[in-house]
Amino acid sequence: MVLGQLKIKIGMKITKICCIGAGYVGGPTMAVIAQKCPDIQVTVVDLNVDRIAKWNDPNVENIPIYEPGLSAVVAEARGRNLFFSTEVDQAIEEAEMIFISVNTPTKTYGTGKGLAADLKYIELCARQIARVAKTDKIVVEKSTLPVRTAEAIKSILHNTGNGVKYQILSNPEFLAEGTAVEDLFAPDRVLIGGDATPEGQQAIQALVDVYARWVPNERILTTNLWSSELSKLVANAFLAQRVSSINSISELCEKTGANVAEVAKAIGMDSRIGPKFLKSSVGFGGSCFQKDILNLVYIAKSYGLHEVADYWEQVILMNDHQKRRFAKNIVTTLYNTVADKKIAFLGWAFKKDTNDTRESAAIYVADDLLNEHANVVVYDPKVSEKQMLNDLDYLATRSVSENHRLLQAASDPYAACEGAHAIAVLTEWDEFKTYDWQRIYEKMNKPAFVFDGRNLLDGEQLTALGFMYQTIGA
Ligand code: UDX
Ligand code: ADP
Repeated sequence: MVLGQLKIKIGMKITKICCIGAGYVGGPTMAVIAQKCPDIQVTVVDLNVDRIAKWNDPNVENIPIYEPGLSAVVAEARGRNLFFSTEVDQAIEEAEMIFISVNTPTKTYGTGKGLAADLKYIELCARQIARVAKTDKIVVEKSTLPVRTAEAIKSILHNTGNGVKYQILSNPEFLAEGTAVEDLFAPDRVLIGGDATPEGQQAIQALVDVYARWVPNERILTTNLWSSELSKLVANAFLAQRVSSINSISELCEKTGANVAEVAKAIGMDSRIGPKFLKSSVGFGGSCFQKDILNLVYIAKSYGLHEVADYWEQVILMNDHQKRRFAKNIVTTLYNTVADKKIAFLGWAFKKDTNDTRESAAIYVADDLLNEHANVVVYDPKVSEKQMLNDLDYLATRSVSENHRLLQAASDPYAACEGAHAIAVLTEWDEFKTYDWQRIYEKMNKPAFVFDGRNLLDGEQLTALGFMYQTIGA
């Protein structure tokens, strides 16, 4: 079968891949593809000059994304067949396969504001590909997108291009941050959606052949485009729903004397339910769960499926409630006022082993406490003060100068906790468990409270040291 000048045919071998977007998805995914396929040239491009400079930093520990194991993968492949560049046009032109891995945040304006995904970055990519491409291309949607986005990409490519032929594939990423490299090395499944036409099937096969270098065939699933796009949203919605479900039960546990960890263990041993994603917490964060559910809600509403929309929206409402009630409990327990009290935060990232803070519960808990005029001092092993303040400024609850006055980062956890009235654990970093808690206790204001939003610490040990310890769901 002939597809324009590129002649994509069965068994066609991809030799050059370009990925637009060097973020949390594009960076690690392409690094692993490059490591596993040394004969394929993989070029990751981004408009963000600073980000690309960091990916190219001679000291591989300075790459812009912290993920366990990632620096070793980059060290092996970078300069060999993995390249990071701002030369977007050149990389597009050279590649046979182009991954679109740009951000698709929730819209903050116009129709669908607060619900729909903002597709302006995707559209810009499609237009850029159409403008630059001189040979046929396989375009792969990697970013999470609303169902039928491929249709829009197709329309732009086919109507604004210069006779070049395109095949569009959907290949959603299921990696979780903090375990991205592990997930990419041994994925539960790789999902590839494409057209049922012979050309579509050949494009699917070309991508299957890339993954088949290290992923067993039975784990590579091929579907039509729309099933693939929808599956990504649904997978995240189901995972988030489990967290909201157990979080709803955590509140009930606190009232009834049951212990949510015990309940989770008991129900998780039922093989139909399973033990994963049943850890109650201060609330889920991350760039995907909320965005994808809002997207699902928007799609359902746009088809008039209001009951479906309301059902999924409840997952978000429960999550918001969990974050707010954690902050409220701190205020209530500290004798109904935190004004001018020092509250130490352990953790700001949305989960351990990542420097990503998008939608982290810590941001919202801090916001509520700052509204009560608390002084928040944060220690996170991987997040900078600049990032924390950016996150707060983005909420626009108060002036930038006010945020800077009320929140600081500490470079040392003991300094963060010194003189504090309470400690709030917002991220489940392992190192928090290894601290000298006796030393921390001695330097705090008494009574010294710990609000463990992650069920992380040994409550009995802390209580024995004199702490007033509270955790979620017990
Ligand atoms: C998620 C999906 O897991 C991944 O497949 C998809 O590609 C992207 O979205 P990620 O957001 O990186 O990955 O992390 P995940 O491990 O799913 O955690 C999301 C949030 O839920 C975190 O804030 C985490 O702390 C919280 N969580 C998770 C809980 O509170 N309890 C749990 O039991 C599990
Ligand atoms: P994700 O978590 O989905 O990877 P990120 O925000 O971490 O999202 O990364 C997306 C990246 O895509 C950003 O670094 C951004 O600069 C880049 N990007 C967005 N639009 C374009 C574009 N048109 N061309 C090149 N890079 C882009």
